[in-house]
Amino acid sequence: MVIDILSVVPDLLMSPLSHSILKRAQDKGLATIKVHNIRDYSTDKHKSVDDTLYGGGAGMVMKIEPIAACIRSLQETQTYSEIIYLTPDGEPFTQALANELSLLPSVLMLCGHYKGIDQRIRDQFITREISIGDYVLSGGELPALVLTDALVRLLPGVLNDETSALADSFQDGLLDAPAYTRPVDFEGLTVPEVLLSGHFGKIDAWREAQREEKTKHRRPDLWKKYQELQGDTLGDA
Ligand code: ADE
Repeated sequence: MVIDILSVVPDLLMSPLSHSILKRAQDKGLATIKVHNIRDYSTDKHKSVDDTLYGGGAGMVMKIEPIAACIRSLQETQTYSEIIYLTPDGEPFTQALANELSLLPSVLMLCGHYKGIDQRIRDQFITREISIGDYVLSGGELPALVLTDALVRLLPGVLNDETSALADSFQDGLLDAPAYTRPVDFEGLTVPEVLLSGHFGKIDAWREAQREEKTKHRRPDLWKKYQELQGDTLGDA
């Protein structure tokens, strides 16, 4: 998968992209992730990328020309399945959307700053607008990293244990079960007996019950959806 990220602060993105799973995915050739500095495409002598709001108002808006030039230059050698703008007024990012986007061969992500980007960029170039939650961050870089991580870890071969991405919280509508490792006793806090039993049937049943209990209490919205889905599946049988 090709992921090109456009930003005015590319350094913000570099460290997370060069460690752990994202690094491994790139080293294995499963993902090609590049960061592009929008400022490099500004043609004015101060290399400016933002300007004041037409109609008045506080804050600066990212200018159309450098972003258009950057996207067009990349499009000379790469076609994109989606051109995504990260914005708090976009569609909510969910595991279902991560699954969908992870199947695409190539995406471009545009990170906004200041008071956002000139609307004409959105009208002309953007194919999808995505929000990572109902809160406002100072730029689109962290959201772009969130999307990148969520997509790349789903690519076949990226995770060692093929099944572990599928067992994640949200993948089947339930939150994840608690996890334990050695020691079996830490200052009197012990590991649940069943996990030491070696009885995989019982362990699976315990984990499932834990997942249901956790989802019921923490996320009644997800629990309701899960139950509706179970009802539909039983109805189909
Ligand atoms: N940019 C600023 N806040 C954001 C959010 N919540 N989601 C996506 N992009 C953003």
